[in-house]
Amino acid sequence: MGLSMATAEQWVRRWEVQQQRYALDREDRFTVIADVVEHVTTGQPRPLVADLGCGPGSLAARLARRLPHADIVAVDIDPLLLELGRTHYATAARFVRTAMGTDGWIEELELGGPLDAVVSTTALHCLGTDALNRTYTDIAAVMRPGGVLVNSDRLRAVGGRISEITLHVGRRRDERCRLSTDEDWESWWTAAEDEPELADLLSPRSMRHPSRIPDNALTLADHVGLLRDAGFQDVAPVWQFGSDYIIVAIR
Ligand SMILES: C[S@@+](CC[C@H](N)C(=O)[O-])C[C@H]1O[C@@H](n2cnc3c(N)ncnc32)[C@H](O)[C@@H]1O
Repeated sequence: MGLSMATAEQWVRRWEVQQQRYALDREDRFTVIADVVEHVTTGQPRPLVADLGCGPGSLAARLARRLPHADIVAVDIDPLLLELGRTHYATAARFVRTAMGTDGWIEELELGGPLDAVVSTTALHCLGTDALNRTYTDIAAVMRPGGVLVNSDRLRAVGGRISEITLHVGRRRDERCRLSTDEDWESWWTAAEDEPELADLLSPRSMRHPSRIPDNALTLADHVGLLRDAGFQDVAPVWQFGSDYIIVAIR
């Protein structure tokens, strides 16, 4: 059974609510990321941008709205999320299925030119350190000098008393926003299993459950080190709340 526009819209909307639970200020973060990309691509007639771990294309779609002249390649490993994106955000991006950080993944993107920007939200923590290292290195190799990588994700707090305060600030914010009653990752996927139009697209539960996804538990300093080693010149956060960051790295 094919995926209808109406069903795709319904599941993308539900995805947005579910992801908001894990990334407070999600919409603000998308805006900040678009601000950065817009700034570094000013004057370029057709900037080339990749969204890593795009899910159903939430960030790619926002970027396409802000930068309608950009070419956006949206990258993910999950067939169901990619199909939601291809259906609901058909014109926003070219959706490509690949596993970041594995042999040949960057060639599978068929970029056709140097990248101007790479963006990612709530995804790179899924990669083990070796795969992330490989991802950063491969991206740096195909990015033009002056291009940027912009990553929004929760990072491990540094440790010690300041870390406890960082975590406390994040927890208090979570409580104030009362997001705990929203649908979570597991219940979204469980509900998707009952949707006939999604049946053919579901990968085995064991491949997508968070417990199977190693959280690399890297700190900001770890990311800065990996990005510098990969060939990025300047690396710094441009946004932070608790342990949530947007890091910008300039090639
Ligand atoms: C929490 S979701 C975030 C999706 C999207 N960026 C958003 O903010 O809605 C993490 C995404 O990373 C993808 N992912 C995890 N590991 C991956 C890998 N090795 N290669 C490609 N995508 C991956 C998952 O399939 C999932 O779509």
